[in-house]
Amino acid sequence: MRIIITGASSGLGEALALHYAQASNSLVLIARRSQKLEAVASQCMALGAKVEMIVADVSDFDLMKSIGEKLADSQIDRIILNAGISVGHSGGVTPFEDFYRLFKTNFLSVHALLEPIIPKLIAQKSGEVVFISSLASLLSMPTSVAYSASKRALNAYAEGLRYQLKPYGIDVMTILPGFIDSEMTQKNRFKMPFLLSTQAGVKKITDAIASKKHFYPFPLRFYLMIRIALLLPQSLRDKIVNFTNYKKGS
Ligand SMILES: NC(=O)c1ccc[n+]([C@@H]2O[C@H](COP(=O)([O-])OP(=O)(O)OC[C@H]3O[C@@H](n4cnc5c(N)ncnc54)[C@H](OP(=O)(O)O)[C@@H]3O)[C@@H](O)[C@H]2O)c1
Repeated sequence: MRIIITGASSGLGEALALHYAQASNSLVLIARRSQKLEAVASQCMALGAKVEMIVADVSDFDLMKSIGEKLADSQIDRIILNAGISVGHSGGVTPFEDFYRLFKTNFLSVHALLEPIIPKLIAQKSGEVVFISSLASLLSMPTSVAYSASKRALNAYAEGLRYQLKPYGIDVMTILPGFIDSEMTQKNRFKMPFLLSTQAGVKKITDAIASKKHFYPFPLRFYLMIRIALLLPQSLRDKIVNFTNYKKGS
């Protein structure tokens, strides 16, 4: 299989690359930090995979479009849109610059890369597009408004794309992890409920991809808590969210 992974230099992206690193797979790994990406690429090659490494910033849209065009020259079996950033805010108004950076990286970059790839998938009449969203897209907290908004936009994009590509036999999957141990969460100073190791997180993600789950939130207990919270009357939900936020110390 030819598998493209964005954000492959650390965390989930790195672990996904290593999971798929085997002789039958050809991997395309994308991220900005060249040394980290090289280290991941070498490990994948040692495990038998063919690897193409692309050092690039996904928020450079023109670059993403040209990379997408080149990648579409050959068969694409699976593309995992994983690159992402989070910016926490302890309170007050979210600076516009943070909103812009989060939307560029977590959301707009996705279509810049996919625009030239989608016609290729349609012509192939096969392929899988996997979005790494977040449980934070389902319930927006006052401290992560911009992150949640960028991931909720991603969910809406993925939903529409799924309907669009379904008739061509292309699977579009949205994975919504809770807290996973990675560089992203290591900087968090608050308690992270149901925190999973990177390995446990990647096992859940790769199992979901293998069984072509089109919408996969996990861990289940955390997802159910969010679903229940969303069913509550708004006034009660306001109280719970404010209490949780107070406990975070913000
Ligand atoms: N960890 C969690 O609890 C959690 C929960 C839900 C969802 N997620 C999502 O999972 C995905 C992976 O995050 P992670 O937890 O594995 O964090 P991570 O270790 O910080 O990994 C983020 C990856 O994205 C890449 N990236 C970030 N900005 C980029 C840019 N502008 N251009 C290219 N690559 C970029 C980083 O590579 P470079 O810095 O080398 O560019 C890195 O490889 C993200 O989309 C995140 O939102 C994480």
